[in-house]
Amino acid sequence: MSPRSLGSLCLLLLYLLEATVAGRDFYKILGVPRSASVKDIKKAYRKLALHLHPDRNPDDPQAQEKFQDLGAAYEVLSDEEKRKQYDTYGEEGLKDGHQSSHGDIFSHPRQQDRNIPRGSDIIVDLEVTLEEVYSGNFVEVVRNKPVARQAPGKRKCNCRQEMRTTQLGPGRFQMTQEVVCDECPNVKLVNEERTLEVEIEPGVRDGMEYPFIGEGEPHVDGEPGDLRFRIKVLKHPVFERRGDDLYTNVTISLLEALIGFEMDIAHLDGHKVHIARDKITKPGAKLWKKGEGLPNFDNNNIRGSLIITFDVEFPKEQLTDKQREGL
Ligand SMILES: *[C@@H]1O[C@H](CO)[C@@H](O)[C@H](O)[C@H]1NC(C)=O
Repeated sequence: MSPRSLGSLCLLLLYLLEATVAGRDFYKILGVPRSASVKDIKKAYRKLALHLHPDRNPDDPQAQEKFQDLGAAYEVLSDEEKRKQYDTYGEEGLKDGHQSSHGDIFSHPRQQDRNIPRGSDIIVDLEVTLEEVYSGNFVEVVRNKPVARQAPGKRKCNCRQEMRTTQLGPGRFQMTQEVVCDECPNVKLVNEERTLEVEIEPGVRDGMEYPFIGEGEPHVDGEPGDLRFRIKVLKHPVFERRGDDLYTNVTISLLEALIGFEMDIAHLDGHKVHIARDKITKPGAKLWKKGEGLPNFDNNNIRGSLIITFDVEFPKEQLTDKQREGL
């Protein structure tokens, strides 16, 4: 075989190999580059999970599938070990017993079947400070969660009413209604402590929810509901939020109002915002600092403005003769 045809054969083999190994493109599903950090991946997942949740897309027949793809992508890419395997061998590479055993919710994709009973959803308010909205943060929430575990013995389940016919004699039947049940393995609820990591994303808005699928109330005969953290942004003593803009009040002296001033305002992350004026400042005057507001939730590179409203403090006491003269 000539070196050239050997080369093309290799290419062909490579191609075939790639075709069988390919599987789903998890990076594409999450919309992140291959170089994305774990943080970016988590972020992309949370955002997409909000939009793609089947409960939110009842009219999309593919909603379930999309959501499962998303879950699978997240499960792999958020796990360093699995991600490495995936990067090297593709999705197929994960299947040869490499799958880690921690019982991930996505290995048991939720059934479309609406008849499966579900535990209730739990919504928990998660209070966040404006500092956290500005810079972002990861918070750990420890949850004592009742989980269903198998217990010895059997229990009645899937109970339903059935008609039963008993023959009493020739040509005589009696129909009775009775409750028929299956026997299922017994289940007990045990408390399990779980630490959930919630990412407070920069720019997060009041009322936004972070879902943790399957972390809600368990259901003995079905699947657990979801746990949702609802963001509640706390009031801040210095800054007030309006959209992505921040408002603050600064009181200056009458002298500063007349001849100008220079000062630094400590921002939410501690950095200093320098403001200087050499003109007269009237009470209620506003100064806009573009780009010093909050990061936009959808695009952290965009920031709102910081709007400083000045209040002028007049002298509380009458001026002395000397001061009057000075003026
Ligand atoms: C600034 O002052 C105005 C008027 O007194 C007040 O309504 C507003 O809440 C103040 N803002 C902040 C951030 O304290």
